[in-house]
Amino acid sequence: MSAQRACSQADLPGPGAIRVLLDGEPVAVVRAEDGELHAISDTCTHAEVSLAEGEVSDGTIECWLHGSCFDLRTGEPTSLPAIRPIAVYPVTLHGDDVLVDVANPITDGTTTTSGTAATKER
Ligand code: FES
Repeated sequence: MSAQRACSQADLPGPGAIRVLLDGEPVAVVRAEDGELHAISDTCTHAEVSLAEGEVSDGTIECWLHGSCFDLRTGEPTSLPAIRPIAVYPVTLHGDDVLVDVANPITDGTTTTSGTAATKER
């Protein structure tokens, strides 16, 4: 499946994240401090809690339970205790709609490559 609507831009706090389900996958749609949008797996790889409840700062989201931070572009943990990356998904904009492609992750949570973030399509 290709990109599908996750939310509207107006739904997103700035900065911050919301949790959505896409094809049964929990996804955190995140607005970073610089306004850039990201979509990541919403499940922390340490103990499987929702990352959308975490604080967004410096290009990362912090897990609220034990404090691991994950890079929003690569999915890599930047601090312990998490050691495995999370999946990062492509984000596009169509008008006010935020579209996420969960079927074609930029990084799948097991391998990482340098990611690209929101591409505007207006
Ligand atoms: S559950 Fe996320 S760091 Fe422990």
